[in-house]
Amino acid sequence: MNILFMASEAFPFIKTGGLADVAGALPRALMKRGHSVHLIVPAYQSLLARIRAGEVPSVALKLTTTLTLEGERVALWRTRLPGTRVTVWLVDIPAFSERSGNPYTGLDGRDWPDNHQRFFRFCQAAVAVATNRAGLNWSADLVHANDWQCGMACWLLRQTPSAPPSVFTIHNLAYHGLFSQPALYDLGLPDTLWQPDYLEFYGQLSFIKAGLVFAHRLTTVSPGYAREIQTPDMGHGLDGLLRARHDDLSGILNGIDTEVWHPGRDRYLATPYNQHRLQRKSLNTADLRKQLGLTMITEQPLVGFVGRMVAQKGLDLLLAVLPEYLQKSALQLVVLGKGDPHYEQAFAKLALTFPDTVSVTLGYDEALAHRIEAGADLFLMPSLFEPCGLNQLYSLRYGALPLVHAVGGLGDTVVDEGNPVRDNGFCFHRPQPDALSAALSRALEMYEKDTSAWRQRQRNAMGGDYSWNQSAAAYDQLYQKTLSSV
Ligand code: ADP
Ligand code: GLC
Repeated sequence: MNILFMASEAFPFIKTGGLADVAGALPRALMKRGHSVHLIVPAYQSLLARIRAGEVPSVALKLTTTLTLEGERVALWRTRLPGTRVTVWLVDIPAFSERSGNPYTGLDGRDWPDNHQRFFRFCQAAVAVATNRAGLNWSADLVHANDWQCGMACWLLRQTPSAPPSVFTIHNLAYHGLFSQPALYDLGLPDTLWQPDYLEFYGQLSFIKAGLVFAHRLTTVSPGYAREIQTPDMGHGLDGLLRARHDDLSGILNGIDTEVWHPGRDRYLATPYNQHRLQRKSLNTADLRKQLGLTMITEQPLVGFVGRMVAQKGLDLLLAVLPEYLQKSALQLVVLGKGDPHYEQAFAKLALTFPDTVSVTLGYDEALAHRIEAGADLFLMPSLFEPCGLNQLYSLRYGALPLVHAVGGLGDTVVDEGNPVRDNGFCFHRPQPDALSAALSRALEMYEKDTSAWRQRQRNAMGGDYSWNQSAAAYDQLYQKTLSSV
């Protein structure tokens, strides 16, 4: 099957969150199942610059074709996902390639004001590729679109005679891709789309709804989140629509790139290790303490957090609970994150208050993220909601026991049910400080008093299969089902 996989970011080209990890790994896993997968991504300036500077290993750029969409010239560059046979198309318009900054926001942190035009053009280009109207002599049997940036492709495909069907994956329902009503006219969209059954969402134009309404099948990144988003509490205002499409919606858990995240072969670690050589993990803990200037007190477990600093990640819970434990010298804390200034400041303050036991790095640092997974004893993910979550999977694989709020993909992957053969982390079930605190106390007590139970959980965690194999098989099945029903 020819599959066009659309995403607004893909590792190792460009990444702001887990979507990039998925787009960088799932296409390869699908190739292994015998499909021909082409990935299409916007040609952001920083992405082109990284490839040209040789920072993305072993790939070259080739300008392949240009097309004209509504009078605008769109160039398509061709490259490859490093280490794979996955062809990558980069959609080059000035609004992508001539801007520095983040894919979605300017240097001031505000959304680019023309995001609707940028991502609509991206969708038009993807549809031209999928339907063999881009001069590439290739067409897709199916388009797999991800998140709001790709939503309009699902509508465009429905407008195009004999176009392939689409699957739309929700990586995070909190991000709707909302624009004010004039965007509808800027894009020349028909008035008929302006109604609640289609793209209107409480007076705004919603790109994610284009995916949710017009894709042939919907998926999200864990079975737990698939259930949760159909409830008013966790449906972000779209639960009614999702309930209506219940029969077309499924949850497929993400895998991880087990080559990139491999404690035994991680290029960022001085001392690789595995579940049979767990004492070597503590050398990574010592390295990390040294690198970050923390006191070498091995009795205190090293507790990690890596992630976007946004409310979703449960940072208010951490800020409510951790000071008490730090005061008691019960743990050391390593934080790596970037996001809302309000959270960045609160964590920076924590590091100032506890200079010997707290390290906070504000920024994006791939190497440090790997070293934290390798060095941490415990890894915190108290997310209020979590569609899948990748960090807990990295943590499991690295034996940094995840302590999670058991929602969405966290509840589907972290086991804490009093079963020594299966337990691989710690869970709490209410997003409240006292619930987090109880789970943390329980974990610290086990760390201190029951090394063999702790080691067993680490081995259970590290022995799990987090590869893409099963998920790719599930997507494969879904694609077949989609094709056979159109
Ligand atoms: P989300 O996609 O909601 O941000 P995930 O857990 O699915 O959450 O994925 C986050 C990904 O981004 C992980 O690969 C994580 O290591 C990475 N990440 C997040 N923040 C940072 C950071 N500041 N530095 C390095 N990696 C980060
Ligand atoms: C989103 C979600 C995260 C998920 C990732 C990849 O960013 O917040 O939970 O793991 O997408 O699917």
